[in-house]
Amino acid sequence: MTDAHPTFSPGLSGVPVTRSSVSFIDGTRGVLEYRGISVNSLATKSNFVETAYLLLFGALPTPSQLATFRQDLGEHRRIKYRIVDLMKCLPEGGHPMDALQAAVAALGMFYPGVDVQNPKTQYLSAVRLIAKLPTLVAAYARLRHGDDYLPPRDDLTHSENFLYMLTGRVPDKVLSEIFDACLVLHAEHGMNASTFSGLVTASTLTDPYTVVSSAIGTLKGPLHGGATEKVLIMLTHIGSVSNVRPWLEARIAAKEKIMGFGHREYKVKDPRAVILQQLAGRLFSHYGSSPMYEVATEVERVNESLLSSKNVYANVDFYSGILYERMGIERDCFPPVFAMARVVGWLAHWMEQVKDNHLFRPTEIYQGKHGLPYRPPDDRNLAEL
Ligand code: COA
Repeated sequence: MTDAHPTFSPGLSGVPVTRSSVSFIDGTRGVLEYRGISVNSLATKSNFVETAYLLLFGALPTPSQLATFRQDLGEHRRIKYRIVDLMKCLPEGGHPMDALQAAVAALGMFYPGVDVQNPKTQYLSAVRLIAKLPTLVAAYARLRHGDDYLPPRDDLTHSENFLYMLTGRVPDKVLSEIFDACLVLHAEHGMNASTFSGLVTASTLTDPYTVVSSAIGTLKGPLHGGATEKVLIMLTHIGSVSNVRPWLEARIAAKEKIMGFGHREYKVKDPRAVILQQLAGRLFSHYGSSPMYEVATEVERVNESLLSSKNVYANVDFYSGILYERMGIERDCFPPVFAMARVVGWLAHWMEQVKDNHLFRPTEIYQGKHGLPYRPPDDRNLAEL
């Protein structure tokens, strides 16, 4: 037996695992489209709720479809008191992503997702999950500090309500619009690891709460949803604009990766980073700049000369953490906020999967031994085991 195998692609790199019409990525032209519409248009002209409808159902809603969807989402923001109690019992030092995963799995005990191929079940489950995730994220973020859980408010938009439940203050329009655009930009991104994880789980025809909780577990990893926090740690280490060039040159000479730069798909600047940079400009010109933001813009300027020859540019994680921190979101809550947006993409792919379901059951290349005898305990040589 050898390692070589004609069809083996580590990490399934480049291997199509499904047919999909949810989103399209062209990494050489820097294009990302949701259902054929550029993410740039959606981030600047649409909003998260309308974009969620587009991703789930394949077309932009009519005014009455949008009104119904918005109302349904508003009505399902609340969570059962038992779920709040469950989160109160979790360790306050635990990761918010683990709390979110546990709470979403528990939701499935309150709302059993039977008959998952039924469009009515799908609609209701999708509405519940999109509506309740922000409440769960904000609830744990407060409860772990000993603060009261703030129930959702019906009079606020999806994004205003989340920031209100998190901070206790109704955000102003500029802040909530920028946050909403961040959610649009994170809502979907093709067959990434967490979406694939959700797809595998979905293919067993289990309930959507289990699908989403498995995707949350995958998103948590540092190679996926954890990079945003690392960007802020890096910017804190750099500390000042004057230290940017020597710091970057030393890291690149040592073959270290600069956080928030490079992407497996994009060989030009990530189109989401382009928009996030504009949003950061708007946020900091409105609320006043910060040393962190000034260091970040200098990092991007210097990296242009150091890394562009390798087609390495800023990715979605470079500016999003700076924006979130300025909005009062704690660093370990960045991945749960990512999940609040990406739940839409997970659900859109779940619906596609169960519509024409095939159980995922890939194969493997066996590299172990054959035909060994069974030896009784006293006759075993440890060195052979
Ligand atoms: N900083 C410095 N150099 C980088 C780099 C980065 N962030 N990303 C890639 N490069 C360099 C590599 O060192 C390599 O150089 P070499 O040809 O001299 O060896 C070249 O660019 C190609 O890199 P490679 O690792 O093959 O690219 P990839 O497509 O496999 O990597 C990532 C993609 C995302 C894994 C990688 O860019 C990375 O680790 N980025 C930092 C973490 C991050 O921001 N992750 C979030 C992604 S959304």
